[in-house]
Amino acid sequence: MKITVRVWRQANPSDEGKMVGYDLDDVSEHMSFLEMLDVLNERLTLEGEEPIAFDSDCREGICGMCGLVINGLAHGPERTTTCQLHMRSFKDGDVIDIEPWRSSSFPVVKDLVVDRGAFDRIIQAGGYISAPTGSAPEANNLPVPKEDADHAFEAATCIGCGACVAACPNGSAMLFTAAKITHLGLLPQGQPERAARVVGMVEQHDHEGFGNCTNIGECTAACPKGIPLETISRLNRDLLGALAKGKA
Ligand code: SF4
Ligand code: FES
Repeated sequence: MKITVRVWRQANPSDEGKMVGYDLDDVSEHMSFLEMLDVLNERLTLEGEEPIAFDSDCREGICGMCGLVINGLAHGPERTTTCQLHMRSFKDGDVIDIEPWRSSSFPVVKDLVVDRGAFDRIIQAGGYISAPTGSAPEANNLPVPKEDADHAFEAATCIGCGACVAACPNGSAMLFTAAKITHLGLLPQGQPERAARVVGMVEQHDHEGFGNCTNIGECTAACPKGIPLETISRLNRDLLGALAKGKA
């Protein structure tokens, strides 16, 4: 396939940045999207140009590093991570715009790389438990209702990619925060800190400058792990309960 990519190039956080076009003549439909960028970078390097900076690690859809806005959509046209997106989702002659996550809480470091440290600080504000876990316990020592276990597991699949923020018109990180609160708050080990956790993490979310949730649902539509919108309702119930108990 012959394609044209228009890529956001920004030398450093204070650079204005601009879209730069590159033509590629020999793109295989079997390449992943990141492999297409690897090929382009190899060419740029051989031509003595600065390669395009972008993040990736596992390239298996589990680490959450590879977030890009592709043709205006977080992670592109498929409901998956950018590393699991393949060039067969595009066709010969396509022009593809590639941008970093757009959120003032995720400042651009260089080109397509953003600083997602805000997510780390939300986790630090309460995304942990204090129960001593020791070695692996016998699975049935602490019975957990099947429904709770299923919802906790579903929430725990959040990979912290940030697509929910990039997709949300309010720039809210409530789906991410709700997933982290839910996967601990539904399990017995997560109960001692449950109220302080939700209050602390929501406070940090707001402090980082993320917007509030107005139930638009773009976050869940863009989430590569399908975290449902009702996870945010769970957060809201937990938060109201904690505030009613005077944990604020
Ligand atoms: S909730 Fe979904 S979109 Fe948001 S960070 Fe987690 S996995 Fe990514
Ligand atoms: S590189 Fe790890 S999820 Fe894409």
